[in-house]
Amino acid sequence: MPPFSDISLSPAKSGQQGSNTSARELSAPPFWQYCIVYASHMSTYDLPFTCLLYRVFVGLETMSNGESNVKENVREYYGSKLQTNADLKTTACCAASIPKKLRALLKDIHENVLEKFYGCGSPLPEGLEGCTVLDLGSGSGRDSFVASRLVGAHGTVIGVDMTEEQLAVARAHVDWHMERYGYDKANVTFRHGVIEDLASMGIADASVDVCVSNCVLNLSPDKAQVLREIFRVLKPGGELYFSDVFCDRRLPGTLREDQEVLGECLGGALYIEDVRRLLAELGCKDYRIMEQTEIQITDEAIAAKVGLARFFSLTLRCFKLPELEDRCEDFGQFATYLGTLDPVSFELDQGHQFEAGRARAVCGNTAAMVSAGIDGMRVLKSILSAWGRWQGERE
Ligand SMILES: C[S@@+](CC[C@H](N)C(=O)[O-])C[C@H]1O[C@@H](n2cnc3c(N)ncnc32)[C@H](O)[C@@H]1O
Repeated sequence: MPPFSDISLSPAKSGQQGSNTSARELSAPPFWQYCIVYASHMSTYDLPFTCLLYRVFVGLETMSNGESNVKENVREYYGSKLQTNADLKTTACCAASIPKKLRALLKDIHENVLEKFYGCGSPLPEGLEGCTVLDLGSGSGRDSFVASRLVGAHGTVIGVDMTEEQLAVARAHVDWHMERYGYDKANVTFRHGVIEDLASMGIADASVDVCVSNCVLNLSPDKAQVLREIFRVLKPGGELYFSDVFCDRRLPGTLREDQEVLGECLGGALYIEDVRRLLAELGCKDYRIMEQTEIQITDEAIAAKVGLARFFSLTLRCFKLPELEDRCEDFGQFATYLGTLDPVSFELDQGHQFEAGRARAVCGNTAAMVSAGIDGMRVLKSILSAWGRWQGERE
């Protein structure tokens, strides 16, 4: 087998030197020239290795082209095709109902931001005071600005998005919102980049209390990488709280290549079983559902493309906890809501509503989610107290 240093590079074409592209990139010969040099050094024993190499090369090419096409289509859809949410063809990217408690806060959001809101839920958990919140795919910034209010002047919100046009709207309205909220210093910033690579935007390991996201994961060509990044940046005890479009089945890749079906948040819709597996690989073996609404596809052309597939807007909360089990099991634990937020009740998820001051039996996973024992656990520890046989003394 020839060592790769044997392959000589042809000289750069004249007239190209002054560009931003590196000389090595410019002078790289086409793939077939590598093949000729390689073949002249090859023995018959190398044939299986050659086939493998070819498959890897073609695979990587197709994968990276496919991924960049998806991102380009999404950028174009949200950057220039859609001017406002009135241009959407379906209700998938705006199937958002906002809880009563938060509705009043929308009055303090600028109308230019609101008209470019394309979310499908309301991924804003209670008890954010003082937290660092990361909004993935923040768009024109609606949820980032609401979060800016909820974390308070001492909290921090970082919005990230890859579409310049969306970011420009968010950035142009930071001062307006800070003045409205009475903050001396802006507690929200918007960064340009892709959610598959949060490190490139300087987001460090274990630096975020809560990651929120509204209708964005479905648009990513590499959802596993996005989730890995999220669980990297979350603090222990932190959580991912996101709304997105889910489908009752795995959709064919052709739908992801259709700019309109993809851009309308349907073509890349998440399949819940895949999400469950991806989360479990990251240690999150038990996630909780907060909201669930079926999306009606009223546009006939799009309905014909998606056939019988059913779509749902779900809001999930997924904690970064070391000891979650794959099923809810009873270890004799109880939890009590302390009445810190709403004086009457607190909803951990669809199945767990806690009345203030009244103990209720909970499974081990729920106890872990609301337990004060976790280092870095955010405000839930001041909201609920959990105890039981395994936890020893009541806190
Ligand atoms: C459906 S819109 C939702 C925007 C915002 N969350 C909201 O609720 O209005 C999707 C947004 O995600 C951004 N986006 C999609 N894929 C992304 C990626 N891989 N990295 C960063 N941003 C992405 C798009 O640019 C767009 O602004």
